Amino acid sequence: MIKITTIPGDGIGKEVISSGIAILENLDLNMDFKEAAAGEECFKKTGTTIPEETIKMAKNADATLFGANTSVPGEKSPILTLRQSLDLYANIRPVKSYAGVNSLFDNVNFIIVRENTEGLYCQVESLLDDKTIAQRRITRKASERISNSAFKIAKHYKKETVTCVHKSNVLKKTDGIFKDSFYKIAKNYPNIKTNDFYVDAMAMYLVTNPEKFDVIVSTNLFGDILSDEAAGLVGGLGLLPSGNLGDKKGLFEGVHGSAPDIAGKNIANPIATILSIAMMLDFLKEDYYGNKIKTSVENILKQGKIKTPDLGGKNTTKEMTEAIINEINSL
Ligand code: NAI
Ligand code: MG
Repeated sequence: MIKITTIPGDGIGKEVISSGIAILENLDLNMDFKEAAAGEECFKKTGTTIPEETIKMAKNADATLFGANTSVPGEKSPILTLRQSLDLYANIRPVKSYAGVNSLFDNVNFIIVRENTEGLYCQVESLLDDKTIAQRRITRKASERISNSAFKIAKHYKKETVTCVHKSNVLKKTDGIFKDSFYKIAKNYPNIKTNDFYVDAMAMYLVTNPEKFDVIVSTNLFGDILSDEAAGLVGGLGLLPSGNLGDKKGLFEGVHGSAPDIAGKNIANPIATILSIAMMLDFLKEDYYGNKIKTSVENILKQGKIKTPDLGGKNTTKEMTEAIINEINSL
């Protein structure tokens, strides 16, 4: 029995998780789903955005499927808390152009590997009179292990180059360590090419030559910003999946947030979540089904008959989900 904890959260999180469960229930897998609460709605009911029970359920599961949360001002972010509590240090975000999708580029295929536990997202801020300070914690340990993840991914997917993105000309100490750690780990992977860019230059290269990149490794905030930029290159946030991986645990989620502008309308694109499920199945060593899901999504996008509004169509979340289920069953 594979134990999955689901955390639908807020807004479109609920809609895309219910699509995801429909996809999984249709597969011939012995899975048990347990739902846990987190987010704004949970805060209104319980006074906390992330109950201890939710963290415990994520720790006890074989994998966790996360929808999205609406931020509550002044309160802890559930997803950041989960990443930190479960030590899910590597945020893996594959970015790919799909045939049939109207996008800026049709030849993009890279993977963003974002450090997930520290940097500016360590959630340590202080306020003294009118002076506010946010801590940007960068350790050698976390920098080396995220670089190691990036090189391991490059090796696994037979990618040629790993690119380190930082701002060490300004953040000399913190990003100095990040960049040094990258080149230290690179020595263990002599067959993989390396380069590094400042994050501002990288933001430009991503819109001028995105096809040149294979694997991109960066700190928490830069990785987050570049991910949304990358989504814009290939058809939007409705298509970008992600995995948050530690040494043993995995939590999977679309890159997008709770999208209050389209929530509750049954029009969110469930593909980001469905591709995250494919990543989850690979992680659970059920890659036969992971591959089936990826192929089905590719086929549906290529056929272009069913499109949610973000892809230029008029179909609903449910119609897209059903089309993908039918495609999976026809393979
Ligand atoms: P967002 O990712 O929710 O939405 C950005 C834009 O992309 C919106 O126009 C939205 O309609 C569109 N979009 C996102 N996902 C889509 C999908 N699956 N299908 C079609 N269109 C989609 O980011 P935004 O608006 O900045 O944040 C909304 C809330 O979500 C905020 O409270 C924010 O803090 C939170 N958030 C939560 C995250 C998480 O739970 N992991 C990640 C990012 C934001
Ligand atoms: Mg983000």
